[in-house]
Formats: sequence, C-alpha cells, structure tokens
Amino acid sequence: MLDRGFIFGDGVYEVIPVYSRHPFRLAEHLRRMQDSLNSIKLANPHDDQTWMRLIGRLIDLNEPEDQSVYMHITRGPAKRDHAFPKDITPTIFMMSNALTIPPRQQVSEGVCAITAVDNRWLRCDIKAIALLPNVLLRQEAVEAGCVEAVLLREGFMTEGAASNIFVVGNGVLLAPPKNHLMLPGITYDVVLELAQANNIRHEVRQIPEAELRSAQEIWLTSSTREVLAITRLDDKPVGKGTPGPMFAQMYALYQEYKNRVMRSG
Ligand code: PDD
Repeated sequence: MLDRGFIFGDGVYEVIPVYSRHPFRLAEHLRRMQDSLNSIKLANPHDDQTWMRLIGRLIDLNEPEDQSVYMHITRGPAKRDHAFPKDITPTIFMMSNALTIPPRQQVSEGVCAITAVDNRWLRCDIKAIALLPNVLLRQEAVEAGCVEAVLLREGFMTEGAASNIFVVGNGVLLAPPKNHLMLPGITYDVVLELAQANNIRHEVRQIPEAELRSAQEIWLTSSTREVLAITRLDDKPVGKGTPGPMFAQMYALYQEYKNRVMRSG
C-alpha cells in the first residue's frame, strides 16, 4: 500500500496498441517512456531489449490478435515522505487487454466534445500516472453526454483530456506544436506523417480558441481511438455537423496504413 504510485502518483505509463500481435511503434513508445522517466528522475529498470521481450511475452499470453498493452513504472514502495527515498526498487505493472477501437457509428457520425479550461500542470509532456485532472475533465465531458474535453489554456487549444486534437480551417490541417503543454502523441506523429506523404496541406502552429470554434473539422487522435471526427463542440455543429472530407481521407489513409504497415510489424 505504500507504493509511491499509489500514495503520490509518482510514476509514468505507456499505452501501446498491438495489431495482429505486432506492437505498433514500439521503439517510439519506449523512447517516450524514457523521456518521461528522465523527466521524473527515475532510472529505467530495464533496457529496451528486456522491455521488448517482456512486452512480447505479455502479448503471447493473451488471446486477442489486437491488444492494448498498458505498462506502468512507479518509484516503488517506501515510508511516506515526499522527497525521493534512497535505494528502493521501482514497481513495474503491465497488462494487456483486447484493443477496443471506436464503434462504427462513432466513426461514421462523429462524436461530441465539450471545451474546458486546461487546469493541469505545466509538464503535460510527461506521461505521468497522476491523471486526476484528466479524469475530472473527461468525466465533465461524459456528464455532458460527450466523449472528450478539448482543452484551452490562455486562449489556445492544447489537446484533449486523453487525446491529441487536430483542426481543419480554410482547407488546412492544423496541429498544435509539441511542447510542455501537451503529450507528444504517437498517433499525432502518424497523422502528420500521413498528411505529409499524401500532400495534405498542414501546419504545425498554435491554434487560437476562435479558430477552434470556427473550424471546418476537428479530430481527436489516440492509440486506442485512432482518428475520430468531433462533429459537435459545446452543443454546436462543427462545420456541417458530420465528419468532413479531410477526415474521410485521413481515416482511410490511417486504416490502410494500419492494415498494410502496422499489422506486419
Ligand atoms: N492516452 N494526450 C493525452 C493527454 C493522452 O492521454 C493521450 C493518450 C494522447 C494520445 O497519445 P497517443 O497517440 O500516443 O496514444 C494525448 C492513452 C491512450 C491513455 O491514457 O489511455
């Protein structure tokens, strides 16, 4: 019970989608986990080879072809004191579940989201297990009958409570720049790479609230929700209120990429 993950939320985590038993962008997930560990000054208990072996074994032990691997490292158990204790062993927890991607109806009709003030800390680039602000923000969305909260900080859009957010304005795909105010999403990278490879006009820059509210399209991305169109924001339709043409193109590209590249490892 004295594990610092439990007592202080002192730890980091990763969620890795697995397609046809191949963990997707494993090297990138392990690199992001290393960045998170470095940020909280916790030595990585394993090298990448060992992590790869452990993840491979976990996938083997589970039946579904498509899975979602959750891995979590805390500073370990110690007498309760905020400062780092000396000589304790980190706790590692891993599980894998069947990957549940969004239902067809959410893909074809889009989903609704609310906006909320981004009241989290200034290190949202760390994939920290301390997710209480994200939990409360996401719950606010659920209580409004929606699936996500799109967060605004000082007049700019940052990300979702558990996703990254893209906006289409004037036919250009816009993504906020990676910095300490958002998690550097692995799916975010895939979407920008697909945009680049397919000559979809895109810009990485700050997105003011007004541009979010007048967007033609808004998308959310994450490892478990892939790419989804947000078609209602704060009870108002986004664009025509249905998933837009650029979403349709990106969704098709993403599915094609998933089946051609992700499934073959
Ligand atoms: N969350 N931003 C936040 C705050 C997130 O929690 C997530 C993902 C993302 C998207 O990152 P990626 O594309 O690497 O999944 C962005 C995971 C899925 C979770 O907490 O379950």
